[in-house]
Amino acid sequence: MKIAEIIQPDDFHLHLRDGIYLKHTVTYSSKYARAIIMPNLKPPITSIEQAKSYRNEILNINPDFNPLMTLYLNQNIKKEELKKFPDIPWLLGIKLYPSGATTHSDYGVKVSELEYFYSYFELMEKYNIPLLVHGEVADYEVDFFEREKVFIENHLIPIREKFPYLKIVLEHVSSKEGVEFVNQYDLTAATVTPQHLLLTRNDLFFGGINPHNFCLPIVKTQHDKEAIAKEVLQGNPKFFAGTDSAPHPKHKKESCCGPAGIFSAPISIELYLQFFDDYGKSFYNNYTDKDLLENKEVINRIENFLSKFGADFYGLEYNKKTISIYKQEFSIPEEYPLGNETVVPMWAGKTLKYTCYIS
Ligand code: DOR
Ligand code: ZN
Repeated sequence: MKIAEIIQPDDFHLHLRDGIYLKHTVTYSSKYARAIIMPNLKPPITSIEQAKSYRNEILNINPDFNPLMTLYLNQNIKKEELKKFPDIPWLLGIKLYPSGATTHSDYGVKVSELEYFYSYFELMEKYNIPLLVHGEVADYEVDFFEREKVFIENHLIPIREKFPYLKIVLEHVSSKEGVEFVNQYDLTAATVTPQHLLLTRNDLFFGGINPHNFCLPIVKTQHDKEAIAKEVLQGNPKFFAGTDSAPHPKHKKESCCGPAGIFSAPISIELYLQFFDDYGKSFYNNYTDKDLLENKEVINRIENFLSKFGADFYGLEYNKKTISIYKQEFSIPEEYPLGNETVVPMWAGKTLKYTCYIS
């Protein structure tokens, strides 16, 4: 049964990888109209030329999908390139990876050398180029679950206050402190992943360690999850969908010292819908509809989160096409093909309540 139709969503944080993975990964995101593509390839994307050729590879696979590209902040970015950003509609921002903080971040910025990049931030402010931030420190001395909080306190607030006109996105917000930071400052927003809305650290450890729930920033406590959920459910425009779908082959995830990354691309819209259905019941307790997603107000909130707030922040038009949401259960596959290997999706084997298709 079709229950609603909304503007086609965008994924404001996506890892597509390259090489033989690309054919699969691009296809897995095809329900989205556009996505911001992360630049943490090996080697990273640090020039407009590289971004353009990566974008063309993606377009060759699916011309109906609009990849919005980013550069990877390091000293190889030529400052002259920054002034070209405003004239290139598909080039949306620069990603800051603190070195050592996550997958392929070895070319990132040492937090002790962040001030070197202040001259870049000044230009980014001038040319209205958003700074997308992986907001974590990677010091052994800092507790793993406090990496985001410490990065915000020690590094992000100083940048935020020194460059008040710089647009900043705290990517994959994962903590209560992250939510507070975003709410406290203008021109500051956050992407929100399905995993940070639906999982806590219990999902990493309950019944035995589950490497498929390991991502960075790591999923945290019930309190953190609720703080993020509240902003999304109440429709705060600073918080919008960005999946951080980050595929790694199954055998690597299941090995010792396996990499961080949760793969959700092909089922992520459905995961967000499930979130609104599961958590909305107590939040919107004045709605008496039998099925929450049949409530027009709830559907509007979903549409804002998936298809409008991110576009508003980045100054993009809304997509023209729509997707139709059906009340139609489906089981998440145990694995998806990835090049010559396979990848295990989030919540493999679980049944979701809704399915959607491009209208
Ligand atoms: O879990 C993650 N995986 N977090 C990131 O920041 C990077 C990503 C990846 O590229 O695998
Ligand atoms: Zn990411």
